[in-house]
Amino acid sequence: MSHSLSEYLHENRDRFEKELGEFLAIPSVSTESRHSKDVEHCAEWVGEHLRRAGVGTVEIVKTDGKPIVVAEHIVNPDLPTLLVYGHYDVQPVDPVELWESPPFEATVRDGCVFARGSNDDKGQVHMHIKALEARLKTGVGMPVNVKLVIEGEEEIGSVHLEAFLRENAQRLACDAVVISDTGMLGPDIPSIGIGLRGLAYLEVFVDGPSGDLHSGSYGGAVVNPALALAEILTALKDESGRVTIPGFYDRVRPITDEEREALNALPFDEDEFRAETGAVSLGGEAGYSTLERLWYRPALDVNGMISGFTGEGAKTVLPAHARAKVSMRLVPDQDPNEIAELFSRYIRDLAPDGVRVTVKALHGGWPWAANPESPLFDAAAAALKRAFGREPVYVREGGSIPIVPLFEEIFEGPVLLLGFAPPGGNAHAPNEWMSLSDYHRGIETIARLYDEVVHRGV
Ligand code: BES
Ligand code: ZN
Repeated sequence: MSHSLSEYLHENRDRFEKELGEFLAIPSVSTESRHSKDVEHCAEWVGEHLRRAGVGTVEIVKTDGKPIVVAEHIVNPDLPTLLVYGHYDVQPVDPVELWESPPFEATVRDGCVFARGSNDDKGQVHMHIKALEARLKTGVGMPVNVKLVIEGEEEIGSVHLEAFLRENAQRLACDAVVISDTGMLGPDIPSIGIGLRGLAYLEVFVDGPSGDLHSGSYGGAVVNPALALAEILTALKDESGRVTIPGFYDRVRPITDEEREALNALPFDEDEFRAETGAVSLGGEAGYSTLERLWYRPALDVNGMISGFTGEGAKTVLPAHARAKVSMRLVPDQDPNEIAELFSRYIRDLAPDGVRVTVKALHGGWPWAANPESPLFDAAAAALKRAFGREPVYVREGGSIPIVPLFEEIFEGPVLLLGFAPPGGNAHAPNEWMSLSDYHRGIETIARLYDEVVHRGV
């Protein structure tokens, strides 16, 4: 990286942080219709800042849902082309009373910026905007072509993105896809993502009597939907922590010796991980380590349950309904549609007499594992090493970015997960934060990646 580029990054640190604060102040919550104007405004903000950075063409594409920001900076069609994907939408802020500073007021404490979206994913999208700005404003220029697709529906399942990508496959043609929407293994440990879990998310409804009943007049003689639901849910796992759904593990790839060795060599601190969760101890499927459970094994979780009386004090009532939101994180080669089907069938088998049990699939996504053979991974490793001063580690992620396998399929090129979210960064939770030093080193990494891609190919 030339002298002028590093100087530019250094001299503009404060302004970058100020602009990041403006970006984070827009409440672009895609799940809440009351924020739909904010979501649109946020798309405009991203477009405007890409223009200001000097990016050639920028368009805000309307969809039946949230707008997609599409931009292109083409230097020379013969050069490699990177497609950057990210999202400007964020999760809701509830429970808002647990935030130490307002979620849409970027607040710096101890070198970290606290705000919804600071790491997932606005902070990381902003790194790409600033890396482009630095190259274009200093006249260092771009050694590669860059296209960007920044969507506003990632947190609600990328509803309109697939159709958009397929319809615009020609226009978006690229040699590789770069995504900064994942995390780092530890503080100061630059990380390259090589796997994501998939997802099958369903809701279970248990309906009993036609209305809530007096639990004295009817309790003991009418089946209680809340208890019926609890019975069903507890039957989904056995004492060893294994999921009991028939066929659930059929397609799960066994962990290879090589993979185990690589896992064991990682600087992963299990105590720190436990402390980060605040749980008294960790727990999961017997016979597997924490990283194996998170990265190589599927998981089943109850995300929420609703039933009966939850107000102050005691009210004697036998509820008419109970429901639960259940998610399953999937690993290669599990198929989200097949898993949803196996789950639904099994739930129907488990349903006790006296209640009606129905299941509705909410959304899903395929698991993904990278083929890290591509020189793109060496380019990323070199860029990270230069910005962070140490070799990166290769990590999988327990989370999901369902669109990733589709990128590989449509563009027939590698996908690089170049993520900078801190471990314990509270994504989707109160007090989400991003380390500012990682934010700046992230910008530098991206600005250097372009050169490394030219040197090493994709
Ligand atoms: N940035 C996350 C994906 C992620 C999560 C990467 C954890 C690494 C670790 C993304 O914004 C996200 O939250 N994805 C959802 C997908 C869902 C809404 C389809 C997820 O994983 O729950
Ligand atoms: Zn998210």
